[in-house]
Amino acid sequence: MTHQLLFVSGSQRRESHNQRLLNYLSQQLDGHCVIDILMPADVGLPLFDQDLEDQPDITDRLEKLHQRINACDGIVIATPEYNGQLPPYLKNLVDWVSRLPRIDSRFSNPFFARPVLLCSASTGWSGGALAIPHARALFGYLGSIVAGDTICLPYADEAWDGEGYVFEPGFDAQLRTTALQFLTLCAALPRMALTGTVA
Ligand SMILES: Cc1cc2nc3c(=O)[nH]c(=O)nc-3n(C[C@H](O)[C@H](O)[C@H](O)COP(=O)(O)O)c2cc1C
Repeated sequence: MTHQLLFVSGSQRRESHNQRLLNYLSQQLDGHCVIDILMPADVGLPLFDQDLEDQPDITDRLEKLHQRINACDGIVIATPEYNGQLPPYLKNLVDWVSRLPRIDSRFSNPFFARPVLLCSASTGWSGGALAIPHARALFGYLGSIVAGDTICLPYADEAWDGEGYVFEPGFDAQLRTTALQFLTLCAALPRMALTGTVA
């Protein structure tokens, strides 16, 4: 059975290192699974405002996002840290999607029981590692199964040669192992656990 992962960047920036890290990981996983990449244009949500919850253009977008999350066996997040915190784009996306079951009871929490691999890239020394505990708390709160292992890429701009990342072989192997182990975790969980209901 072919498994599917949803890749989500916490940055909307065109030349985002977090998007590049996801692209790099998708190459590492090539042939092992299907990868659906959620682009910022697919999100297109305003800053969360409960007064906007009944707007059909927003609920349409939320339903499409819900469908894509539900279709995957696991989510790989790559996020920058902004002043040691999660960027508002990612938090906003999660907040909106988490509201859909409250807006329309046909929908369940799509993050529940879904494996999540947390990754981060930054141009600083921390590699975005300060954002990871915030992301772990957020997805843990939503009931996701957050993998213990994480991927953090420091000084991302220095590793980027204009066309791709150039890593030390040991680091490269560690990225690949972490990604493949996450896929093993996703494959080990039965699909029915992801429906959000008890059989
Ligand atoms: C508002 C803001 C806050 C930032 N705070 C941090 C930080 O706390 N730690 C860090 O290492 N880099 C920080 N940076 C630098 C980011 O690591 C860098 O801009 C990175 O490229 C952002 O990720 P992206 O390339 O995926 O957009 C910050 C950047 C911005 C715009």
